Amino acid sequence: MERIKEAIEKAKTQREASEASPQAARSAIRQASATSPEALTVADPDVHYQKTSVVELDLAHLENSRIVAHQKSHPVSWAFDLLRTQVLQKMDENGWRTLAVTSPTMESGKSVVAINLAIGIAQQTNRTSLLVDFDLRRPRVATLLGLQREVSLNQVLTEGAPIEDAMVNPGIPRFVVLPTQRPVPSSAEVLGSSKVAALMGELREHYADRIVIVDLPPVLAADDVLALLPRIDCVLMVVGNGVSTRKEIEESMSRLSKFNLLGVVLNKDDAPIGNAYY
Ligand SMILES: Nc1ncnc2c1ncn2[C@@H]1O[C@H](COP(=O)(O)OP(=O)(O)O)[C@@H](O)[C@H]1O
Ligand SMILES: [Mg+2]
Repeated sequence: MERIKEAIEKAKTQREASEASPQAARSAIRQASATSPEALTVADPDVHYQKTSVVELDLAHLENSRIVAHQKSHPVSWAFDLLRTQVLQKMDENGWRTLAVTSPTMESGKSVVAINLAIGIAQQTNRTSLLVDFDLRRPRVATLLGLQREVSLNQVLTEGAPIEDAMVNPGIPRFVVLPTQRPVPSSAEVLGSSKVAALMGELREHYADRIVIVDLPPVLAADDVLALLPRIDCVLMVVGNGVSTRKEIEESMSRLSKFNLLGVVLNKDDAPIGNAYY
């Protein structure tokens, strides 16, 4: 108990400093979690999620997984800044707070884009992002981030665990993840259920200051996307260069036409780095 208190005090003192510099904020989180490694309930620089577990991520693993939006010096991070700014402008104009990320087919880079976008949003000091792994068929967010959690969306959906217990702050200020550790059977039914409707409602209302980004399966894989989209404000489609055919892209656009399609991201572009991710 004493160590938790100490860690909270420490994080609180360092919060003032962290407001001046995101780097200091990261270091505050690291020091706080190092102070009480057995207790993951450590204060975050953001007072809103003092109960959220803080888990330090492996920077080399992140880079190998192409998660780079937090590294300002990385040659690709600027592309996610640009995407972030465009996405936020459109969402703000329309008062939208929840965004789904999908693609026509798998392996398009949807999860990579969703994570980088969520981190990019959290890089803005006046924004907070929450990333939810609702690709219940092939959940990849935890693996890409290097997270291994005992309580995740699996327990929230199947055992009624409290949503706060599944939330993780991966050492990046203002960024919270709701990971899914294992595939969930009958995923379309689950995503269309009243339980998930209530969960999305809670994420919208209880965490009204956050932009919620939801990683979804591909549009053409099953009806999961169509089951969940009525509960989400808008959708972004990621197309992997050479991954989906023209017909698959057109069919996906047609299925998404009744929802608010924010735009299409061309990922895995062969163009020189300056144009990658357009
Ligand atoms: N811009 C990119 N360039 C090259 N490879 C990429 C790019 N984006 C993602 N990948 C790789 O493509 C694979 C699929 O990415 P992932 O995000 O899991 O796709 P999805 O969620 O659409 O199935 C991963 O191995 C990932 O590292
Ligand atoms: Mg994925």
